[in-house]
Amino acid sequence: MKRLILILLLLPFVNTFASGGSEHLEQAQANIRSKESLINGAKYYMSYCSSCHSLQYQRYSRMAQDLGLTKEEVEENLIFTGAKFTDHITNNMSAADAEKWFGKAPPDLTVIAKARGVDWIYTYLKSFYKDPTRPSGWNNTLFVGASMPNVFWKEQGVQEAHFEEHTTADGVVTHSFKEFTKLSQGTMSDEEFNETVRDVVNFLAYTAEPAQLIRMAYAPWVLLFLVIFTFMAYLLKKNYFKDIH
Ligand code: HEC
Repeated sequence: MKRLILILLLLPFVNTFASGGSEHLEQAQANIRSKESLINGAKYYMSYCSSCHSLQYQRYSRMAQDLGLTKEEVEENLIFTGAKFTDHITNNMSAADAEKWFGKAPPDLTVIAKARGVDWIYTYLKSFYKDPTRPSGWNNTLFVGASMPNVFWKEQGVQEAHFEEHTTADGVVTHSFKEFTKLSQGTMSDEEFNETVRDVVNFLAYTAEPAQLIRMAYAPWVLLFLVIFTFMAYLLKKNYFKDIH
């Protein structure tokens, strides 16, 4: 019995270790309930990402409704492609052109937050460093050899990556990432940059499951209903059983 209790107590940690992998991920700490963060994320997404990455399962109009924006606000500040308000968020880049330019077509990002997880995307966007051996001039410590250029280099400042060399007993040399240093300062402070990336990731968490917002808006009412219902059921039970004793 004791052993069973111990196993049950340890169970939640097993998953943590199993999913840990070798890569170190920073915590995005995104808060999907913050409309301000989602709107800022949408703004940065539309100006920095949407030219390459579509959100083909999301419409501008749905986004406006969920984020509390008007049609005019979206048309003036968030649509850069001449698309209509009711259109899906796509771009005009053909897959063939994209492959020619980047060697790899930029994937659609509507559900990327589900596929990769928010912490992965957060860490990825912060882990670009200067690498003259790459065609784009950039590499990434989390996604080695990524063909995406570093879109935030001006804001973050240019990073250089330092690696540690390890030699195993049988003479194989491997490198592991140690730290970044800055070659130039960005236009944003580290805190501002983290906040901006967090907002973009938060926006992607929203597009991956827009219904989350509605679910959360209903949650307090559902709980209230359950409390009232339980109370009524209790009164009913009391009434039914009052003559039985
Ligand atoms: C100039 C085009 C371009 C822009 C702008 C761009 N990306 Fe990318 N992105 C790419 C390409 C190309 C890939 C594919 C990389 C690969 O597989 O080597 C990619 C890959 C990714 C991936 C990894 C997808 C996977 O394979 O799991 C994520 C996440 C991502 N981009 C997010 C973003 C975000 C967020 C922005 C805006 C802040 C952005 N990208 C801006 C071209 C771009």
